[in-house]
Amino acid sequence: RSIKSLATSPSSHILRRGYASEAVPDRKVAVLGAAGGIGQPLALLMKLNPLVSSLALYDIANTPGVAADVGHINTRSEVSGYSGEAELGKALEGADVVIIPAGVPRKPGMTRDDLFNINAGIVKGLCQAIAKYCPHALVNMISNPVNSTVPIAAEVFKKAGTYDPKRLFGVTTLDVVRAKTFYAGKAKVPVAEVNVPVVGGHAGITILPLFSQATPKANLSDAEITALTKRTQDGGTEVVEAKAGKGSATLSMAYAGAIFADACLKGLNGAPDVVECSYVQSTITELPFFASKVRLGKNGVEEVLGLGPLSDYEKEGLEKLKPELQSSIEKGIKFANQ
Ligand code: NAD
Ligand code: LMR
Repeated sequence: RSIKSLATSPSSHILRRGYASEAVPDRKVAVLGAAGGIGQPLALLMKLNPLVSSLALYDIANTPGVAADVGHINTRSEVSGYSGEAELGKALEGADVVIIPAGVPRKPGMTRDDLFNINAGIVKGLCQAIAKYCPHALVNMISNPVNSTVPIAAEVFKKAGTYDPKRLFGVTTLDVVRAKTFYAGKAKVPVAEVNVPVVGGHAGITILPLFSQATPKANLSDAEITALTKRTQDGGTEVVEAKAGKGSATLSMAYAGAIFADACLKGLNGAPDVVECSYVQSTITELPFFASKVRLGKNGVEEVLGLGPLSDYEKEGLEKLKPELQSSIEKGIKFANQ
């Protein structure tokens, strides 16, 4: 066949779609805290994502090494490293998605809220820069305490006049990842087929897995559901204790962060039916921020999905978590407005 007939044949469009640079839009992803325990494996996983064309790695130090290392991988994205506050603007300019795993992790005996004093200031500074350099980016907040850092980000963006609730996400995907793993183990079903929504927030009892909606269905006893719920709520602490002072979940978090960022990119690119749980501005309960299933689209949040039918145990868990989540939200808002 001649080149001309190939170009005009009905299949030519499909053939051209084989060339990623023509079919997939350019997307820049920035990782803030990229030299850290989460940041490094997350940088690796984002480098493996074919939806990313430009990967900006920012940290206060040590980013050139991470960027040089990851940059040698023969995948689509161009990698650049930025070190120190003077380079933050360049890291953020043109970013479609900004992932924030910057901040200190827990040690045994600490709650996530014990990180507030250090991480609140870090997140505030980074969000002020986002408002200035990439106000339209989708922000994926990983830094703890997520229940408060997301409201802090919202307040910073409001002050800067750039707040769009559709573009701010607390990353709770690790709770879903854990719930799926633990459920598959107990229910003896293939883990790859498991779906479990996790709602509420991202700390202790504010993490509410909805095992009554888990699929594939399994006949678990009340005691088994209670144990699974508790293990999911304490999953972070399980890792903190096992690491015995050397930090918290990094590898499973990088995996979860990469899944969530990929969902954001798919949504931006117009893929249909992209649904993930996330902690977002919400009206599905009386709390201003709440994690639930969210449909992602070209502008970020397309729809915050409702909770669906809850078991009595889950209804009780929902009522119990509200005061703690409310106070973490208020703490964040107060800090941001000081
Ligand atoms: P880490 O200490 O290994 O790495 C944090 C990185 O942030 C470091 O490289 C540090 O230099 C950098 N950093 C500090 N201040 C910064 C700033 N102003 N700008 C840019 N970078 C800065 O910690 P980690 O294990 O990667 O954890 C990071 C955060 O993620 C912690 O707050 C932790 O609690 C949280 N976390 C959240 C989840 C979740 O499910 N949302 C899961 C695991 C960990
Ligand atoms: C997690 O759930 O693993 C993170 O929030 C880190 C932590 O402190 O538990």
